[in-house]
Amino acid sequence: MPIKNICCLGAGYVGGPTCSVIALKCPEIKVTVADLSKERIKQWNSDRLPIYEPGLDEVVMSCRGKNLFFTNDVHAAILEADLIFISVNTPTKNFGNGKGRAADLKYVESAARLIADIAKSNKIVVEKSTVPVRAAESISKILMANQKPGITYQILSNPEFLAEGTAINDLLYPDRVLIGGEESPSGKEAIEALCSIYEHWITRKNILTTNTWSSELSKLAANALLAQRISSINSLSAVCEATGADISEVARAVGLDSRIGPKFLQASIGFGGSCFQKDILNLVYICECLNLPEVASYWQQVIDMNEYQKSRFTSKVIESLFNTVTGKNICILGFAFKKNTGDTRESPAIYVVKTLLDEGASLKIYDPKVLESQIIEDLTYPAICESPEEVMKNVMICKDAYSAAKECHAIVICTEWDEFTALDYNKIYSEMMKPAYIFDGRKILDHQALVDIGFYVQTIGKRL
Ligand code: NAD
Ligand code: UGA
Repeated sequence: MPIKNICCLGAGYVGGPTCSVIALKCPEIKVTVADLSKERIKQWNSDRLPIYEPGLDEVVMSCRGKNLFFTNDVHAAILEADLIFISVNTPTKNFGNGKGRAADLKYVESAARLIADIAKSNKIVVEKSTVPVRAAESISKILMANQKPGITYQILSNPEFLAEGTAINDLLYPDRVLIGGEESPSGKEAIEALCSIYEHWITRKNILTTNTWSSELSKLAANALLAQRISSINSLSAVCEATGADISEVARAVGLDSRIGPKFLQASIGFGGSCFQKDILNLVYICECLNLPEVASYWQQVIDMNEYQKSRFTSKVIESLFNTVTGKNICILGFAFKKNTGDTRESPAIYVVKTLLDEGASLKIYDPKVLESQIIEDLTYPAICESPEEVMKNVMICKDAYSAAKECHAIVICTEWDEFTALDYNKIYSEMMKPAYIFDGRKILDHQALVDIGFYVQTIGKRL
């Protein structure tokens, strides 16, 4: 039976864009994105969407109210759906067993219980959230233990591989779609039903079907391998700084080997974002639980190297400024974890800023898309000192890069926003304290041009 009604539980960075694209490509299917948060749904139904993502506004505006709906009425959305995506958050547990490492599955479980309570017809339940291997088993147990007569459930794994900042493009032109399910006839039927949705715009050869556990593990593996490349290149950036080699030249030279490839070799102040760290910690925890300590410590190194890179960069800033930043004005350009998003989850900028504040610096921060309220929240919770208000006395959020840099001793680039490459650095230099420093944590600027202006420049993986 073809799918006519889709419901998605979770209107976040994944649920919102994914379902908007499904609605765009499947005009005959009604897509309802349901969330418990009143504020989030209000924003999805407004002119100012809750997340910034290039191209998203156009997709939402063209479908919203036609076949795309955002609602808090989770009950009604589940009742009428043939297929339900679970796209809720799976953060790192911050309490109890596995604290700081295991994935907290309470939202996934609550979604499964909602479905079990409400459903009055057959449902295909699709795990889109990133989860530990065999999480589908828990969803299945909850659903089966509460099964009403005549109702059947099929559980599929369909992890999402989109990256923020390029989500719409990633959804429209994915390298592959992965669907895991049971080998049984009804399992295969459910896989086919989900395939038929994606086949509206993705060729069948790019839709990969596997068993459920392979699908779940592939998602953790993909993120672990991507993050591992960044930690690998970042580790080599330290060698470059110590020897005079240039990490961009090294990355280009090794990336031209077709077995290695050029992507994800951009050295930086470290990776951020809501998932890489969370998912690797989860993988480490799973390995420990499976009594595979060598495998656990192998992947833990990816996180450790990332921490080292963030602290190495921040220490370089402090050391260069004569080993003290107390009372100095420092301009922070970029607060998001990468360009083209307003998301700050696990942004390396938070680490840099908190460390500089702890050292007594006064900071002027500018980011084109991050809301002021978000920066304040990130800097005050968890607090670096007893009084969060005290921290904010030393922070000014600015409306543009020029006012942020004015009268500063140094500029620190934390996010690779394109607009930072097009600034008038002569003007900026003339309005800064001297000697004027630039620390390019993203390797986006023309360093020689800055040196010619008079700046002292430091970057990642290259001696200047
Ligand atoms: P998010 O925090 O932006 O959104 C999750 C939403 O789920 C929240 O709005 C929350 O209110 C809602 N929610 C929680 N419990 C609910 C329930 N029972 N019913 C309805 N709504 C509920 O999270 P996200 O960034 O969209 O990530 C979701 C999942 O997708 C995570 O597992 C993440 O690892 C994975 N993922 C994220 C990305 C990304 O780029 N952010 C990419 C791929 C995969
Ligand atoms: C990442 C993956 O790329 C997605 O495939 C995955 O779906 C997603 O995680 C997820 O599961 O949440 P995302 O975190 O949105 O996507 O963004 P990335 O482009 O992967 O960047 C992550 C971090 O690594 C950013 O801080 C970025 O600046 C940094 N990075 C990336 C580097 O430092 N160097 C690089 O070469 C690439």
